[in-house]
This record gives sequence, C-alpha cells and structure tokens, in this order.
Amino acid sequence: MIEDNIFVLLGAPGAGKGTQAEKLAREFHLNLLGTGDLLREKAREETQVGSQVGQIIERGELVPDQLVADVVRERMGSSGGAGGFLLDGFPRNLAQADLLEQMAGNTPIGVINFRVDEEVLVKRLSGRRFCMECGKICNVYFSPPGKEDVCDACGAKLIHRPDDRPEVVRKRLQVYREETEPLVAFYSNKEGFFGVNGNLDPQAVFEEISGKLLRLKEHTGNPPLSVDR
Ligand code: AP5
Repeated sequence: MIEDNIFVLLGAPGAGKGTQAEKLAREFHLNLLGTGDLLREKAREETQVGSQVGQIIERGELVPDQLVADVVRERMGSSGGAGGFLLDGFPRNLAQADLLEQMAGNTPIGVINFRVDEEVLVKRLSGRRFCMECGKICNVYFSPPGKEDVCDACGAKLIHRPDDRPEVVRKRLQVYREETEPLVAFYSNKEGFFGVNGNLDPQAVFEEISGKLLRLKEHTGNPPLSVDR
C-alpha cells in the first residue's frame, strides 16, 4: 500500500507536466512516476508487448488500462513504499482513476490540473526536443539548446518524439478531450484539486504550483509532505 500523499499532474499533451514533474518531485521529496517514460521504456524492450506498446504510442492512442496499471503498480512497489508519489500521465481516463483509488486505499490523492490554450499546446509539441540519454526536455521556440540538436545537460543528440508529428498531435489532443478531460469534472469537487495557469513561463508555473502545495499542506493539518526551505 502506498504511504504518504499521491499527487497527479493532469493536463493535455504539451501542457508542461513533464517540465514541472522532476523539479516538483525534488522540491517536495516525492517519487516521480511518469507513465509516458515508463511505457516508452517498455516499447524499447524487444518483446511482443513492447512492440505493441510502441505502435500504440506512435498512433497517439492510449495503451490498455490493465497494462498501464501493472506498470504503475510495479514502479510503486519497487520504491519500497517510502514517501509519496507524483504521477505524470496517470490516470488518463475514468477507469484508470478507479484503479488509482483502489491502489491508493486511504492515501489522499491531490490533483494539479494544467490549463493551457490549444494553440500553445500545438506550438510547444512541434518545438519540443527530448534527450534519450538524460530525459531533459527543451523547445526550439521557448528554451532552445545552446547548440542545435545537442542536449545542454549531457551533450547527447536531441530527438523529436515520433508522436509529436502534427497528425499524431491532432489524435492525442482528440484522445485527451474524449478520455482525459472528463477527469477534471471527476476530481474538481474533491479535496486537494487545484488548477494552474500553464500558459505562463515554466518558472511562474512552478511557483504557482509550489505555493498551492504549501497552502494545501497548511490546510490539511497533518501534512505528508516534508518541505526543505
Ligand atoms: P506522455 O509522455 O505522458 O505524453 P503526454 O501526456 O501526451 O504529455 P507530453 O509529454 O506530450 O506533454 P507534457 O505535458 O509532459 O509537456 P512537456 O513538459 O514535455 O505519453 C505519451 C504516450 O504514452 C501517450 O500518448 C499514450 O500513448 C501513452 N500513455 C502514457 N500514459 C498513459 C496512460 N496512463 N494510459 C494509457 N496510455 C498512456 O512540454 C512540452 C513542450 O513545451 C516542451 O518542449 C517544453 O520545453 C515546453 N514547455 C513546457 N512548459 C512550458 C512553459 N510553461 N512555457 C513554454 N514552454 C513550455
């Protein structure tokens, strides 16, 4: 069973979840679990399941719920149960939200919903570059690397994710609207839900989320988060 709190980063493709996730996990001492990264890892395995997962991601569709739940459970289990979790990309539909509630038991679930305009999402995804070696994310429009196609952090080659092609982005946004957006209504009346203006620059988004998490900590009275300041 998971101890401490679970926080969910909810938002459309390109909303900035991955950009904030690592920094927030570090700041609030949470175990980071990104289903997109875990599933891309699975897709690189030379197995039949790996190849199916890779094809689904490249089409911009959702990987079957049970497979995703297995991956999430496995990663939560391998953390040894210590500390809370920051979930980037899970749950992504109502069935997965039910699965998360079962996994969480009595552990409170907080949800951070990124609101970003659609034209901003499309521009961000078309300009995103990703380092396969260290996972750093940058953007040719908003945060260009010092040297074209080279990761500033580790010097490896940057890639354009295959699912960031315009036709796949359109599909991912459609899947988001149909499958994931209903989660906003599902969570919005629950305690621990808050929205952030994801259109702002990354540092402003980080400060808005951090401020709200700190206020949540004050209100819950029995804070699971340990914050070093
Ligand atoms: P996943 O990798 O989770 O992709 P996603 O949710 O579509 O989100 P993205 O990674 O595209 O966007 P992001 O919000 O993290 O934005 P980022 O920070 O990179 O999933 C990929 C696939 O895996 C799915 O399509 C599906 O097939 C499968 N999958 C994953 N989870 C699943 C699940 N639970 N169930 C079933 N299938 C699942 O930012 C984007 C760009 O914008 C970057 O270039 C960044 O530098 C820039 N940027 C970010 N923030 C800002 C800002 N504030 N200002 C300016 N630029 C910014």
